[in-house]
Amino acid sequence: MHQPAVRAGWRGVIEEYRRFLPVSEQTPVVTMLEGGTPLIEAPRLSERVGAKVWLKFEGLNPTCSFKDRGMTMAISKAVEEGSKAVICASTGNTSASAAAYSARAGIKCVVLIPEGAIALGKLSQAMIHGAQVLQIKGNFDDALELVKEISGKYPITLVNSLNPYRIEGQKSGAFEIVDALGEAPDYQFMPVGNAGNITAYWKGYKEYNEKGKAKTRPKMMGFQAEGSAPIVLGHPVKDPKTLATAIKIGNPASWKQAEAARDESGGVIDMVSDDEIVVAYKMLAKMEGVFCEPASAAGVAGLKKYIEKGYFANQSSVPKVVCILTGHGLKDPDRAIKVAIQPKVVEAKIDLIKKEIGL
Ligand code: F0G
Repeated sequence: MHQPAVRAGWRGVIEEYRRFLPVSEQTPVVTMLEGGTPLIEAPRLSERVGAKVWLKFEGLNPTCSFKDRGMTMAISKAVEEGSKAVICASTGNTSASAAAYSARAGIKCVVLIPEGAIALGKLSQAMIHGAQVLQIKGNFDDALELVKEISGKYPITLVNSLNPYRIEGQKSGAFEIVDALGEAPDYQFMPVGNAGNITAYWKGYKEYNEKGKAKTRPKMMGFQAEGSAPIVLGHPVKDPKTLATAIKIGNPASWKQAEAARDESGGVIDMVSDDEIVVAYKMLAKMEGVFCEPASAAGVAGLKKYIEKGYFANQSSVPKVVCILTGHGLKDPDRAIKVAIQPKVVEAKIDLIKKEIGL
């Protein structure tokens, strides 16, 4: 299997894809050399599902999620436009990325997060980078309404994916996949929350196709968590629930664009249960050695589900599949500790240790 490498001499998303992005020589590039993440082949998973599977490991970005691709653009453009402050609502990763890139740019960052509902690693990031962190007594959807209203009335730039520069930056993920594989995959499986990322990837694939860089476009296969699946159900979910806190969203901002990505590509947006997410999360860690956060595993859970349904059964050749692993497992260590085998406490005696190991 072709194992592509993209990292050597990597200059960050804006410099690497400048000609595809709305930047000029005047744009002050705020970067931490994000992007250029590995597309890792997944031999065991491939064998298990009967497809050629690659994992785009976005957990290896500077703040350990895909958000950095969009944030380098959003913060660079905010600074170019003279903004002194940014604001976002977040289930955690956007706030971590906004906080880090704002720190780097020397501007103020305000983040609204649902109280008690974001993973510990993400909260620690927003705090240590010096953002003003407001935990609201409400969910992500409530937080998004509040930041939309505030940024509409006051000179503070919204850096949620409603900001078009976020989508522009995030489309680079699709470029990298095509650059690495030499063609577009047949299918892309990914989680869907606020639906910015599926929108961005589809934009990227379409642009590369139109510019002649890829002959084809993948089918976009998006997965929501069962308790937070407004697009699948066809109506907003008032009190979304899922252990995959990153995608615990009941009224996604890019709802229509996600449906367009699905329909134009001939793909699907479906849902997976929390149990299926946990199975995929553990499977990736144990079978492939890749530790992603629970929400990231929703796409792989979807792949498993669709394979089991016989979705690829009538294909003439083995399908090429890319799964986007949106965030690193260390973002949410509590979940790993909850679902893995608990370490045993043993006396520091050689005989007892040997017995435990089976020697
Ligand atoms: N995976 C992870 C790890 C995420 O953090 C998110 C979104 C998604 C998937 C879904 O992407 O929203 O573009 O459909 N996190 C946002 C946040 C909402 O605030 O960090 P999406």
